Amino acid sequence: MLTPQLINKTRLYSGLTLFTYVSIHLINHSLGLISVIAMQAMLDRVETIWESPPGTVVLYGALLVHMALALLALYRRRSLRMPATEAVQLCLGFLIPFLLAQHLAATRLSYSLYDGDDTYRAELLRLYTLDPMRGLLQVVLLIAAWTHGTIGVNYSLNTRSWYPAAKPALFAVAILVPVLALLGFWEGGREVSEMVVDPDVLARMLAHHALSPEAVAHLDLIRDWMRGTVAALILGVLVLRLVRRQWQRRRGTFRVTYPDGRRIEALIGTSVLEVSRMARIPHASVCGGRGRCSTCRIRVVAPASALPELSDAEMKVLHRVGAAPNVRLACQLRPTGHLSATPLLSPTITATDGLNAVGHMTGSEREIAILFADIRSFTELAETKLPYDVVFLLNRYFEEMGRAIEGAGGRVDKFIGDGIMALFGVDSGVEAGCRAALAAAAAMSDRLVHLNAVLSDDLPSPLRIGIGIHAGPAIVGEMGFGQTVSVTAIGDAVNTASRLEAMTKDHGVQLIVSEEVARHAAANLDRFPVMEIMVRGRVQPLTIRGIPLGSDLAG
Ligand code: FES
Repeated sequence: MLTPQLINKTRLYSGLTLFTYVSIHLINHSLGLISVIAMQAMLDRVETIWESPPGTVVLYGALLVHMALALLALYRRRSLRMPATEAVQLCLGFLIPFLLAQHLAATRLSYSLYDGDDTYRAELLRLYTLDPMRGLLQVVLLIAAWTHGTIGVNYSLNTRSWYPAAKPALFAVAILVPVLALLGFWEGGREVSEMVVDPDVLARMLAHHALSPEAVAHLDLIRDWMRGTVAALILGVLVLRLVRRQWQRRRGTFRVTYPDGRRIEALIGTSVLEVSRMARIPHASVCGGRGRCSTCRIRVVAPASALPELSDAEMKVLHRVGAAPNVRLACQLRPTGHLSATPLLSPTITATDGLNAVGHMTGSEREIAILFADIRSFTELAETKLPYDVVFLLNRYFEEMGRAIEGAGGRVDKFIGDGIMALFGVDSGVEAGCRAALAAAAAMSDRLVHLNAVLSDDLPSPLRIGIGIHAGPAIVGEMGFGQTVSVTAIGDAVNTASRLEAMTKDHGVQLIVSEEVARHAAANLDRFPVMEIMVRGRVQPLTIRGIPLGSDLAG
């Protein structure tokens, strides 16, 4: 059964095999900067692998499988509107077989069928000296294959947490490899050209490399047959798309309502991401719609009948990011009825931007600690104060709590009314994050005592706060719009931390900490009462500890 997951994996591994081959081939070209002999020495070694029976099966098998999956992907797309990077990758992918056909015929097939000369010297003589136009097409092939491959590798890596840090170095490699290959090709070509300045040498080489006219005609025929087959397959897929479109018209349409009120109608069978793209509604899709990155996810409001069941792959991704039950991947969801969809991540987090992005721009899943804090009964307090006093009071409070959080190594994520959300361990890991969050809670408690003492004349009663801390996987990335873009976190772990904070009031404590936090921080909280609560998205209850005051953690 061809599940999306299997297709994605097969496409990835066949692509990586081809990319490995291309990389080695380009490195081989770059040895032309040393000499044609050096190029040939490496080629002889490499050929023993790729021209061995297993190497041949792996290489050409990967090529055929990758092309078949590209045709399948073309068929499955309901819309050809896509981000520029995806369009470039798709077009280059279909251009490559046409250019490759000539190269294959002149090298591997010529050698295998007619014992032709497929050495570097022969190929450079043909491409650089005798037929520069073909040489130019070879350069186009080299650039097309490399660009197609690097875009694919970028898509496959840009959800990894280590990738943003490695990206500048990898980008440099991605530029250097083809540049050195082209320089090597150029230098090798010049060397061979100099060899054949002497007409006798040229005549000898031509005689040595010459194939019979019948062999040349046969190889040209095979080349044209390969090109014709690829063209026919692409055309066939486009025709099939048209047939399917007519058929789908009979199945009806569905409507997607976006948060700004736009309503877009599409044929049943179209994914929500494709609907967004068709309507030119910006929608994050870092992995290019491959169902891996989760950045396209949407909050859905729709009757169950409008939503197909989650596939295993979609379920796995949503589970990994701790998504709520009403969240789906827009690239995987093909609704059968009307729905409202709210994209959850900033559309600026795209693969295109990812090429230049640093830090958390592309978003990644990581385990962190999340702290929520809130002033108790602040609304009542605010009603007894002048607006100026309320602002002054809040700013003093935020200053003290912000210092406590940052002093412990956390990051204030946002102030929400009189509430605070803070993240810990975004860069240092969840263990250090949990330790820092507990230290922050203790410091906040201490600073609140100090603040209440300073403001005792201005307050009818001391400020009281509730703090909730939980740890778990969350999507961390730069989210927002325009000037409001900042690093934040989303996911069920965040919602749970907020819920723990809200529970402090019911339990009459200042701080509630989940057992996960205590475990990651290796903190012994056995002296505090334990409770169990049910949390959405978890099968097992969540064990929590109620702590009267944050400062009690120091005891
Ligand atoms: S675009 Fe990556 S999961 Fe949908």
